[in-house]
Amino acid sequence: MLQLVYISSANPAAPCPTRDILTISRRNNARDRISGLLYADSGRFLQALEGPEDAVELAYARIQRDARHRAIVLLSRRIVDRREFGHWEMAHRAPGVDAVEFLADVQRLTADAAPAVRGTFEGLVRTRVSA
Ligand SMILES: Cc1cc2nc3c(=O)[nH]c(=O)nc-3n(C[C@H](O)[C@H](O)[C@H](O)COP(=O)(O)O)c2cc1C
Repeated sequence: MLQLVYISSANPAAPCPTRDILTISRRNNARDRISGLLYADSGRFLQALEGPEDAVELAYARIQRDARHRAIVLLSRRIVDRREFGHWEMAHRAPGVDAVEFLADVQRLTADAAPAVRGTFEGLVRTRVSA
């Protein structure tokens, strides 16, 4: 199984409700047996995608072409023997959710991930929630 982690910046010229990304991703990823985690806020995306190698490569190729974000940087590409993310989830801080609570949510969603992957999510979220 292939696992990719990338980071990108939201394209201010093509703002989109995260809900739109969520709906299509849930549908496609369930079909393609892709699990993972998408962290999204108004400026940044950080996503882990894992599943059958071909399916993950195809999804990543579509995502790379998407004009809703830019400056995509692949942070890690690993072969994993078991899923580190059981489902496909999105971490998006809803209005009114405090920083500590949101960080705890992200820690729960990354609990089974490799330390480096967990650290990448936690590190970004810490800088974003305190920004
Ligand atoms: C930050 C971000 C994350 C995305 N994540 C996924 C994803 O996990 N799976 C997916 O199929 N599409 C994802 N998309 C959407 C794809 O770029 C693309 O629009 C979609 O896969 C096209 O699906 P369709 O061919 O079924 O219309 C994402 C887009 C953005 C901007």
